[in-house]
Amino acid sequence: MIANVSGNGIAVGITGIGAYAPERVLTNADLERMVDTSDEWIVTRTGIRERHIAEPEQAASDLALPAAREALEEAGVAARDLDLLVVATATPDMLFPATAAVLADELGAKRAAAYDLLAGCTGFVYALSQAYGAIATGLSGKALVVGTETLSKITNWQDRSTCILFGDGAGAAVVEPVSEGGILGFELGADGSGGSDLCIPAGGSRTPVTADALDQELQFIKMRGQEVFRFATRVMVTSAEELLAECGAGVDDVDLYVPHQANKRIIDHAVKNLGLASERVFMNIDRYGNTSSASIPLCLAEARDQGLLDDGTRVLMSAVGAGLTWGSAYMTWTNGRASR
Ligand code: UT7
Repeated sequence: MIANVSGNGIAVGITGIGAYAPERVLTNADLERMVDTSDEWIVTRTGIRERHIAEPEQAASDLALPAAREALEEAGVAARDLDLLVVATATPDMLFPATAAVLADELGAKRAAAYDLLAGCTGFVYALSQAYGAIATGLSGKALVVGTETLSKITNWQDRSTCILFGDGAGAAVVEPVSEGGILGFELGADGSGGSDLCIPAGGSRTPVTADALDQELQFIKMRGQEVFRFATRVMVTSAEELLAECGAGVDDVDLYVPHQANKRIIDHAVKNLGLASERVFMNIDRYGNTSSASIPLCLAEARDQGLLDDGTRVLMSAVGAGLTWGSAYMTWTNGRASR
């Protein structure tokens, strides 16, 4: 789907951002001691130098909680005033109940509809569109969108082709009506024919977790890296181009490009092909690795801390992930301008 929503008569924006990464850091040097790899290979092929890893007792909701609290505080919104809480995650606390319901309870968001959304690394962009839609139609007043992942728990730490990529973290955004600006459009899609290129084979109804499945290590992420890489380089460009065109904008109308942090080479390819100036690109993959649905809000929080998100800053976010899914959102940043 693609939509220019700027003429919808209601402006909806992000009024608060929060992020959290677990304290423990796993460096490439640490990985050299675990699998047959090298810092040089990882940095050259991915741009990653280190990543954060959750403690055994930390689940997705535990990472989400501090991120959510920070976002609510920045927005000046009380959890009890939320109508909607969407948690994008591929690593929920449990298959059910939804991590969103767990988080709503911990936050005290007693009036909020709360559900999880599974769109892999595109989850945050998908969840942002859900919040936008709910607010624009009057279904919801204030929403909290969260991306939280404990990918370290579904990583096979003996598989060098995947374990060097992923990290843990969480990010959150308060979404609500703003006086002007805000979200301008979305482009979202999915191509399930590539689903098996990036999946966890066991744990669902197709292949329940059995001793046999565990023997075959089917509970871990399986990825055909080159196929996903090819797909990602293509859709990161087409999704952004199509959305900007739909919004009557060009690359010069992007002040800050916030791509999903999957691989520096994928981002570099997108930046080059879109014709974006490198100083307008936000990257922190070197310190976090690929944190899936947490990656874009983690970037937004750091961009805010670095003073890159002013009133009026035009932000383009694009992501690609399991599904295979992809998505972009284009918006004008509106610092502290909720219309209440
Ligand atoms: O968030 C969205 C989901 N994920 C992605 O977007 C990831 C997309 N894919 C990728 O980022 C890349 O495909 C990888 C980083 C996973 C792999 O990079 P690549 O340049 O595609 O490497 P490759 O799979 O073609 O492997 C090249 C060589 C192979 O050795 P041979 O066959 O040439 O001898 C691999 O066995 O590199 C080897 N290799 C490694 N060597 C050292 C694979 N992993 C490693 C490693 N350390 N960790």
